[in-house]
Amino acid sequence: MNRVWKVLRALHHVIKEYNEEIPDERRDQPADWERIHSASCARLGMMMALERGIDPILGGVACACHDYGRILTGEQKGHAERGFEPVQEFLRGFEYFTEDEIQQIATAVKNHSSKALIQDPLSELVKDVDIIDFYQYGSAPTRKEQEDRLVRLLGHPMDEQFKW
Ligand SMILES: [Fe+2]
Repeated sequence: MNRVWKVLRALHHVIKEYNEEIPDERRDQPADWERIHSASCARLGMMMALERGIDPILGGVACACHDYGRILTGEQKGHAERGFEPVQEFLRGFEYFTEDEIQQIATAVKNHSSKALIQDPLSELVKDVDIIDFYQYGSAPTRKEQEDRLVRLLGHPMDEQFKW
């Protein structure tokens, strides 16, 4: 199994552990969402990274971990920034990411909520994957910059059949 699978498996242990500490009633997103979203973002991230000439393992791992801050705290507010430090510690634990790779991934985690900005390629990959993953499960964008990004990616307005 590759590094994306190993990171996802460890991440799902973290989700379980922190869900015992902070149950779904006190979370902005339930643990089931964190599991499904992280796994499907990892997969989309690998595919879209290949298309964009980005290392697919880095893309998959960054997309898998992007909500690490919310997984730990249960809170949506500021979760991108709050993931920046702890995700580095999480990734160092695997002992197969270089410090440069860890910094790139952590930066993408920190930047992923800034959907109106255009930043480095890995950050942009995570933002795009995040928005497409929400869309494919029928969740409409709540902010204008999210909708703009989605429409830009799709090349057309949101399809009604994907909505709840
Ligand atoms: Fe997020």
